[in-house]
Amino acid sequence: MREYSIAAIPADGIGPEVIAAGQTVLANLEMRLGDVKLTFKNFTWGSDYYRKHGVMMPSDGLEQLKKFDAIYFGAVGAPDVPDHVTLWGLRLPICQGFDQYANVRPTKILPGITSPLRNCGADDLDWVIVRENSEGEYSGHGGRAHRGLPEEVGTEVAIFTRVGVTRIMRYAFRLAQSRPRKLLTVVTKSNAQRHGMVLWDEIASEVAEEFPEVTWDKMLVDAMTVRMTLKPRSLDTIVATNLHADILSDLAGALAGSLGVAPTANIDPERRFPSMFEPIHGSAFDIAGKGIANPVAAFWTAAQMLDHLGEREGSSRLMRAVERVTGAGILTPDVGGSATTLEVAEAVCDALHSSN
Ligand code: NAI
Ligand code: MG
Repeated sequence: MREYSIAAIPADGIGPEVIAAGQTVLANLEMRLGDVKLTFKNFTWGSDYYRKHGVMMPSDGLEQLKKFDAIYFGAVGAPDVPDHVTLWGLRLPICQGFDQYANVRPTKILPGITSPLRNCGADDLDWVIVRENSEGEYSGHGGRAHRGLPEEVGTEVAIFTRVGVTRIMRYAFRLAQSRPRKLLTVVTKSNAQRHGMVLWDEIASEVAEEFPEVTWDKMLVDAMTVRMTLKPRSLDTIVATNLHADILSDLAGALAGSLGVAPTANIDPERRFPSMFEPIHGSAFDIAGKGIANPVAAFWTAAQMLDHLGEREGSSRLMRAVERVTGAGILTPDVGGSATTLEVAEAVCDALHSSN
């Protein structure tokens, strides 16, 4: 029996709904596989915890998480707590504290789901976006001075280090090399941002020499939105800064049908710390509590988690079951169906047991 201990942090809004669905599906996968055991410990951190204790997680939160093999995360964000408090109080300290510098975001059009792009089928859009997840525009560097006065100033400094850029480039080139098309697009904005982004470009060229089999090109981030929309087939693996990839991956999720299907993995490639797996979407206050959140992103990221743990068979079995269910038209309202979160989860459980 191969055993893994997983810390679940469902947190806010639809987070608990989709994480519970994910845990149900994983329990069924476990039964189906027979030789894998996932032991979950659920943490009640998030905005409710903040309302009671004034912090999103206890001060020894990272210490508590350290011993787990992986973290399965829902979403943070509540209407009555400022977003920078929720994000910097829970999700970002985990990503940064555990040096999860590679944020990996696969996007493809699942069976039964239609892209809002005309004539864009499953073969036309199959991407992995690699987002730098430790520095760049979200390094938290900056400050405010002269608060409330007319001369008030706020700075938000983007940090690009040779170590940080080199390691994410290597990760992206390696990933591109492992995919059939061996194609990488490096997103930049070095025309307008002439320091950090020029360093980014230079390091991309240096690292490219280590990967002669990978064909790569460079795109300015604004032009990239056009290429993603008009020529999706020309792209495969994509690497971008923290901010650029944050924005581009929301676009990617929408082009693949819904934010509700898009997964993400926050990876420490060196495996010094647990990596964290989560849907891309947030806490979606508008649909929270209605039982209609799309759980597919939470399932897909669970498959990423299994893959990271070395459970390739379980991972692909889970994705095959998810694709059978979407292909059969069992879909939540965000992707044009009328199924509930629970109905989709049950259908995936059934598909797991009836597949081989
Ligand atoms: P959101 O992702 O929560 O929602 C955007 C839209 O997509 C909404 O209309 C929502 O109903 C829909 N949607 C999202 N996930 C869905 C799903 N699984 N099924 C069906 N529909 C889905 O983004 P929004 O509204 O900008 O942010 C809400 C809160 O979430 C904010 O507090 C924000 O800071 C937080 N947030 C947290 C993230 C995280 O924890 N990683 C990521 C993004 C936002
Ligand atoms: Mg985002």
